[in-house]
Amino acid sequence: MPTLLIRAMVPDDIPAVSAVDHHCFALPWSAGAFAGELASPVAHYRVALLGDTVAGYLGGHVILDEAHVVTLGVHPQFRRRGIAEHLLVEFLETALGEGCRRLTLEVREGNIEARGLYEKYGFRPISRRRRYYTDNDEDAIVMWIEDTSRWGFRATFDERVQQLRKRTG
Ligand SMILES: CC(C)(COP(=O)(O)OP(=O)(O)OC[C@H]1O[C@@H](n2cnc3c(N)ncnc32)[C@H](O)[C@@H]1OP(=O)(O)O)[C@@H](O)C(=O)NCCC(=O)NCCS
Repeated sequence: MPTLLIRAMVPDDIPAVSAVDHHCFALPWSAGAFAGELASPVAHYRVALLGDTVAGYLGGHVILDEAHVVTLGVHPQFRRRGIAEHLLVEFLETALGEGCRRLTLEVREGNIEARGLYEKYGFRPISRRRRYYTDNDEDAIVMWIEDTSRWGFRATFDERVQQLRKRTG
């Protein structure tokens, strides 16, 4: 099993990331949508590589003291190995390093896998966008970490990261 490497996504990664995206979402993005995101000054896009293979990706935005997880996907063949968790941790560490105090994302109500991951890192469901997803009219749950400076957040975050690195290297 090759070592996991996370690095910044570049335009040459778009075909491989799109292929993973098609395995992950009922409404996959176009290549142009990824290209537009990579050109944005607020965007942080990362790929998770196993050898030369793109196993997963994450996209996020950092604007002033707020960060937004925009997209995250792991190829079905490589799931349940901590790849999404490593991608999320890398993004959260970047956001915290840039001074973010509030972090948010939207997730399908029925997406138990992703909600479990986000809750593990302190995101909590705060509101709902009714019929947000047009393929099946599913609601979006809006999750927030509302204040990263609140007591206990950083200690719990660091503990989770330590456990992840101990478990997966
Ligand atoms: C959600 C997704 C990114 C998780 O990727 P992954 O690499 O398999 O996840 P990890 O192995 O890093 O798991 C991290 C945590 O996520 C949760 N999780 C992941 N898969 C799960 C499953 N099948 N059942 C329950 N919880 C799950 C758990 O909390 C897990 O922590 P644990 O290992 O301590 O139980 C992946 O299933 C995926 O790409 N799904 C389709 C796209 C998607 O839904 N993206 C999120 C959009 S908001």
